[in-house]
Amino acid sequence: MAGPAVAVDIQGVGLTFGLDTDTPTVALGEVTTRFEPGKVTAIIGPSGCGKSTLLQIARGFLEPTRGRLRFVEVSSGQETARPGMATVWQAFNLFPWLTVLENVAFGLDLAGVPKAERNARARKAIAAVDLNGFENRFPRQLSGGMRQRVGIARALVMEPDVLLLDEPFGALDAQTRLVLQEQLATLVETAGTTAILVTHSIEEAILLADRIIVMTARPGHICDQIDVALPRPRTLATTHDPQYARLFDRIYGVLRDQVLRAMVIESEGA
Ligand SMILES: Nc1ncnc2c1ncn2[C@@H]1O[C@H](COP(=O)(O)OP(=O)(O)OP(=O)(O)O)[C@@H](O)[C@H]1O
Ligand SMILES: [Mg+2]
Repeated sequence: MAGPAVAVDIQGVGLTFGLDTDTPTVALGEVTTRFEPGKVTAIIGPSGCGKSTLLQIARGFLEPTRGRLRFVEVSSGQETARPGMATVWQAFNLFPWLTVLENVAFGLDLAGVPKAERNARARKAIAAVDLNGFENRFPRQLSGGMRQRVGIARALVMEPDVLLLDEPFGALDAQTRLVLQEQLATLVETAGTTAILVTHSIEEAILLADRIIVMTARPGHICDQIDVALPRPRTLATTHDPQYARLFDRIYGVLRDQVLRAMVIESEGA
């Protein structure tokens, strides 16, 4: 990791599309929270509640229409410039005309890293997601899970201060998912990365996160925040821990209500 430990602080952040039209869409209600370095914060909530929107705001690709986003250097408590960030997007967003190696090295290229170094770092990241031997393939020649791993390698290679993950493990088989989840937890802890993980999986949230944010149906705001104190490393055995069951039930209870609400909202076309 290049820079100092940076927290992402959001105060009353929300976004409405088409504010100046007759049919505005509230994509994100109003969210206030702080994402701390060295921690994984998971965000879980019904489809359409604004999770991806929130990540895009954090990344700087969307401007919030309400509230304020700040980056805070933890050692000094001072506001700081946008830190190094990388994202694993929900749809992978690979460049179809670039090989795996070129896709992974792309961000380093933009950052002006010399070719020999960027290729070496890209190969290391490719090895970390277990794609050795696929460097010269094109995305269309890979399975969905492999493409997703390229997306993860492309983010890891940047050694970001802030890592944004939008359902990064969805297309993976169970074994690969476990290995990559474990690697991510280790990386965040050792590198002091600020990680924000959007997931639909309660199990994934509990196994990976230090804190879980549960969001309401659209327009999304936070309806529950839960600290996960389960010891690490967390493995499949953790899912047999009574504390795991209590957390799962609590999150499931809150989420179920919100998903039902989301279904009503969708069916009414609101
Ligand atoms: N460019 C846009 N213009 C208008 N509405 C949008 C736009 N982008 C997203 N929305 C709407 O904003 C809401 C939030 O979308 P978002 O993609 O953030 O949801 P999400 O929580 O990530 O959902 P999912 O879990 O299905 O990925 C949705 O109702 C969506 O239709
Ligand atoms: Mg989304």
